[in-house]
Amino acid sequence: MEFIRYEEKGRVGIITLSREESLNALCTPMLREIDKLLDEIDTDEIRCLIITGAGKKAFAAGADIEEMSDMSPVESRKYSLYGNSLMRKIETYPIPVIAAVNGYCLGGACEMSLSCDFRICSDNAVFGQPEAGLGITPGWGGTQRMARAVGIAMAKQIMYTARNFKADEALRIGLVNSVHPQEELMDYALKLAEKISSNAPIAVRACKEASTRGISMDLDQACKIESDLFSSCIGTYDQRNAMKAFMNKEKYTDFQNR
Ligand code: COA
Repeated sequence: MEFIRYEEKGRVGIITLSREESLNALCTPMLREIDKLLDEIDTDEIRCLIITGAGKKAFAAGADIEEMSDMSPVESRKYSLYGNSLMRKIETYPIPVIAAVNGYCLGGACEMSLSCDFRICSDNAVFGQPEAGLGITPGWGGTQRMARAVGIAMAKQIMYTARNFKADEALRIGLVNSVHPQEELMDYALKLAEKISSNAPIAVRACKEASTRGISMDLDQACKIESDLFSSCIGTYDQRNAMKAFMNKEKYTDFQNR
């Protein structure tokens, strides 16, 4: 892989966007590498993913502007559809994906972080959807997911003004869950991912599926999906053993993913 790195720490997989000379700008070959990697990760073994950026300056400074600058409308539509399909793949990936945002997180990078389950960031993080200042709209789901994350009025303000904003504001509007000194960000991300990985994988996946699918549905339909997923957990080896342990005043920690 030329534009990303991948490592596994126990049951946690870490994808690092790795194109530091361009502030990890998301070029198509990088997207294709991520796409292929997501197909290859063994999600029975790995229980949580983290996406972060190489270096101390950027998660990523957005989609590659040079690549987009001369595109035709037909090419740009294909480009947007492909980006959108990858963002959706991240959003619906069977295991949780955490964005550990360690600096600039603009445009397409902000959209990628929005397709993750949630975001945590370093104190030097800078977010924004600068597209309107470049003559385009967000093209990888930002017009939809930003509103779901921070509410439509704030999302519109962010997009129309195209202004960058810092970690403290991102925390205040609910775009990130927490802010950390940069040198502590990855330790915290790993701790969080390990905590997630220590719970019943079938249940965690079901929580993800119910939340991700349900948010775009009406509440009645969404609660039916929850009931389906809830009942799909009942009778699993992990459910039976975790509840048996509770009733014996013990804690079951060795979840088997079955
Ligand atoms: N696409 C392609 N290349 C990019 C890029 C992007 N989105 N963002 C940064 N780069 C490149 C720069 O062209 C520069 O390359 P060079 O050294 O060959 O000239 C290198 O990364 C470093 O960026 P630079 O602008 O010199 O760093 P800076 O610290 O002065 O500014 C930013 C950092 C993030 C404020 C600035 O790079 C920026 O505004 N980038 C574009 C952000 C954006 O609009 N993204 C949305 C795209 S849809």
